[in-house]
Amino acid sequence: MADDVSRNERIKEASNYLRGTLAEGLREEITGAIVEDDQQLVKFHGMYLQDDRDLRPERTRKKMEKAFSFMIRVRVPGGELKPAQWLALDRVARDYGNHTMRLTTRQTVQLHGVIKSNLKSTLKQIDAALLNSIAACGDVNRNVMCGANPDQSRAHVAALALAQAVSDRLTPRTPAYREIWLEGERIAGGEEEVVEPIYGKTYLPRKFKTVVAVPPSNDVDVFAHDLGFIAVVDGNGDIAGWNVTVGGGMGMTHGEPDTYPRTADVMGFCTTPDALAIAEAVVTVQRDWGDRLNRKHARLKYTIEDRGLDRFRAEVEKRAGVKLGRARAFVFTSTGDRYGWSEGDSGRAHLTLFVQNGRLRDAGPGAQQLSALRQIAESHDGDFRITPNQNLIIANVPADRQARFSHIAGENGLLAPLSGLRRNSMACVALPTCGLALAESERYLPDLLGALDERLAAHGLSADDIVIRMTGCPNGCARPYLAEIGLVGKGPGRYNLYLGGAFDGSRLNKLYAEDIEHEAIIPALDPIFSAYARDRRHGERFGDFTIRAGLVAATGNGRDFHANTGKQGAA
Ligand code: HEM
Ligand code: SF4
Repeated sequence: MADDVSRNERIKEASNYLRGTLAEGLREEITGAIVEDDQQLVKFHGMYLQDDRDLRPERTRKKMEKAFSFMIRVRVPGGELKPAQWLALDRVARDYGNHTMRLTTRQTVQLHGVIKSNLKSTLKQIDAALLNSIAACGDVNRNVMCGANPDQSRAHVAALALAQAVSDRLTPRTPAYREIWLEGERIAGGEEEVVEPIYGKTYLPRKFKTVVAVPPSNDVDVFAHDLGFIAVVDGNGDIAGWNVTVGGGMGMTHGEPDTYPRTADVMGFCTTPDALAIAEAVVTVQRDWGDRLNRKHARLKYTIEDRGLDRFRAEVEKRAGVKLGRARAFVFTSTGDRYGWSEGDSGRAHLTLFVQNGRLRDAGPGAQQLSALRQIAESHDGDFRITPNQNLIIANVPADRQARFSHIAGENGLLAPLSGLRRNSMACVALPTCGLALAESERYLPDLLGALDERLAAHGLSADDIVIRMTGCPNGCARPYLAEIGLVGKGPGRYNLYLGGAFDGSRLNKLYAEDIEHEAIIPALDPIFSAYARDRRHGERFGDFTIRAGLVAATGNGRDFHANTGKQGAA
């Protein structure tokens, strides 16, 4: 393991600030892939080399190279896109991608299926729309998220401004991106100059994720992230400052109990003028203290477990030159989106659409979602907000266009479904593109929801909001460990079932049943739905109920994630 890890560190160090041999590799026409070291580096440029896993058997039989293509993840701080930017992404998805756009759980857009020879053209068009993909993946601060609640208020404006400022401050400075993809001038010499004042040559030990939340919505899942800012609003609706959270993270490995998801700690309170210094200090302490030998132990969550929150805070305060205040009280009520129309300023309104698992495509009559949104974007003068739940808000729509946009969305299945479970569902991409997937996710969850909805209807629970999330492997891209019902791929068609997460995203769930197939998932959940319908207290959430009913033990911050697992009692 350690070899592999130091290899990553060596690749970064030798890459000359993320250049590696990417420029040469792009010119190599004999293969659709790039060499292994560059596969690591290209992530820092927002891309993953993938292959279509559905096509693997056939291509192996025919002795052909795998069907290689690239996934490009765009950086969209706060998930905000202008209509012209939407149209540009729609165009590259159709011209160079697989004719779909994927809205992600971290408020970005992914394009799949871009072949090597089209990468530069794609990135140039993205650049022309004032967007880029730098640092969308890799060991750096990734896309900064921000609460997308359509209740626009002064706090939301301030939150988006902070998200954008943190994003700017923590974006890598290397000119490699421009040089390689946009054929910018190679900046000669310059070896003496400090290229990356924050990151240095080897960047961070591991990925780093930042969010800004505006209570009472915890749509960004602040406790799942390395660094978070929770807005503290004063009596006049202005921002008094921010509670700062550190050390959340999802990823773990099956069968390795030293790896676990963890909910972030609230470290203290800072004012807006100090927030950037705090963000930078958190990053540089993790840069210096994080584990560079073992990538599975390299996230900030383990640094904080190992060193302790108090020492970590003291070092951050020293480097930032800021003393954090005592954390202020805050209340979250949910992680979900509020679908449908909500009022905005000066007669404008916001429409939150439902996009199943974030995938937009033209799938025939009644489901021409990509075209529908293109049509809306062409006559929209407000903006778009990608939500942290893989949904989309058409924001700031003037009164005279509201009926038309509703109609287009409704005709194409983009309005929220009735099922409370489906409304609160998320799945990661998994097969066929993700090389790490052990099981289906995006392609399977809709069917599973159909089957579970039948059982919920039988118990009169159709309209109840219950959070369900699925991933194809334990890396946890759809944050399954914070769901009331979590399903994590174990092998083809097999999943671990987790229960007991909190509806507001504040508590991790617990393994309830291991390695079960579709036929076992439904009978496992059905009696619990029945018991919930019968025995719940007024207002009691499903996740809380499963704990009170003694079905699963409650998980604390994560170190105890693998303790007391399994079914505890009878439903
Ligand atoms: C060690 C952990 C992880 C690894 C190696 C990893 C790797 C990947 C890969 C390869 C993909 C591309 C899949 C595709 O589009 O075909 C992906 C997608 C994604 N990952 Fe991760 N991931 C990890 C953990 C996480 C976590 C914890 C989050 C969020 C908190 C996350 C957020 C995302 C998002 C937003 C996508 C886009 C697709 C979606 O929304 O489902 N990842 N990840
Ligand atoms: S959770 Fe696993 S299977 Fe799903 S996208 Fe992430 S890495 Fe791939």
